Amino acid sequence: MKKVTLEQASEILGIAPNILRTWEKKKLIQGENNNNIRLFDLDLLKSVQNNLNGNNSGREFKILKSPEKTEFKTIELFAGCGGMALGLENAGLHHQLLVEKSKDCVNTLEKNRQNWNISQEDVSNIDFKQYHGKIDIVSGGFPCQAFSYAGKGKGVEDTRGTLFFQFARCLAEVEPKIAIAENVRGLLSHKKGQTLEIILNTFKELGYNPYYEVISAQFLDVPQKRDRLIIIACRQDLNITPIFPIKNNYTISLKETLKNCPTSPGVKYNERKKTIMSLVPPGGNWRNLPLEVQKDYMKNSFYKGGGRTGFAKRLSWDEPCLTITCSPAQTQTERCHPEELRPLNIREYARIQTFPDNWEFTGSLTSQYRQIGNAVPVNMAYHLGKCLIKMLTKKVDKNNSIQSIKKQKSQLKQLSIPGLNY
Ligand SMILES: C[S@@+](CC[C@H](N)C(=O)[O-])C[C@H]1O[C@@H](n2cnc3c(N)ncnc32)[C@H](O)[C@@H]1O
Repeated sequence: MKKVTLEQASEILGIAPNILRTWEKKKLIQGENNNNIRLFDLDLLKSVQNNLNGNNSGREFKILKSPEKTEFKTIELFAGCGGMALGLENAGLHHQLLVEKSKDCVNTLEKNRQNWNISQEDVSNIDFKQYHGKIDIVSGGFPCQAFSYAGKGKGVEDTRGTLFFQFARCLAEVEPKIAIAENVRGLLSHKKGQTLEIILNTFKELGYNPYYEVISAQFLDVPQKRDRLIIIACRQDLNITPIFPIKNNYTISLKETLKNCPTSPGVKYNERKKTIMSLVPPGGNWRNLPLEVQKDYMKNSFYKGGGRTGFAKRLSWDEPCLTITCSPAQTQTERCHPEELRPLNIREYARIQTFPDNWEFTGSLTSQYRQIGNAVPVNMAYHLGKCLIKMLTKKVDKNNSIQSIKKQKSQLKQLSIPGLNY
């Protein structure tokens, strides 16, 4: 894995440094600070160059599934339509219980996995005590909520009334070896970092050592620029070393992802929107519209500052997709097909979240988009699952020893709490 500066990369690849800077801004590549020098992975740069030149660099779209099976047991809270659950299962884990209160989500889960024990309940109504000592991992993406007593220093009591409190209660009742929580990147800065601090303190109070990292899905076999905050908490008495996924040095383009995608329903544009989007090329946005059309389409937003690159956005074939949301036709986060005059449809949405084509979604079109948009990408969950298995089996690669990673992290000064990578 050769690391180079932007200037070296420019010379090796014959690409102007300002273009490489645009790639970083577009999240196609990620630099790392090393003694105040910004370094980039040369293989990743080559892969992006190949994709942008229309050459598939051999990275096919695929759903990752391990032949390895383990005995490790999990409880999945806030299971949604099963993105996290399927990825963890594909990694080799076994779900003992999934909790989800939405009927549509539960129907989706039941349709795809008759053998899963799914509880359609509000998590606050569930007594987890019967699982005490029988579960290795509790996972869940609790919604990010402000804590009403934030800053009063009451620990777990500060979180009462929130869904995180329910996650914490599950931990207290089950005492799994590891807890893993997924959240939006915004949790880092929510209430100036207070929310995350209370969450981390709660884990400590419950006897767990918490570690966190922002994980970028596009470097984990997911064709989507989606960042998520992952917290891994290990039970203090077990001496488990935390492991986070190592980033791939390649990404997968939308072109690869949507090859032979089955047809499926999707929302449609009205005639006016079709006329507007017909003026936008692949990868373009509202800036490609004639000035008068821009003003008419953007209304007051036209006069506001900032990039607003999500307005009238048409996706690019040659890059991973932009983060998908709960609807592909929202004014500020448009996700128009690269060539056709329509938003992404259901199966395209599902592929971008790395659900297999045979994973069926139930409910109205709006509900299906929401379920998919809310999910943890299956391949990202797979990578997390592999890390959890390594942690439980204590298989830590030599070059990933805690010392080497601690050194790496202290050099990078990225995080206050270091974690290992697998
Ligand atoms: C972000 S989504 C989870 C996505 C899921 N992890 C996946 O990968 O597909 C959050 C889910 O929590 C569920 N939820 C919210 N409040 C809940 C509660 N009180 N009890 C149970 N489930 C709840 C919502 O219905 C939603 O499906």
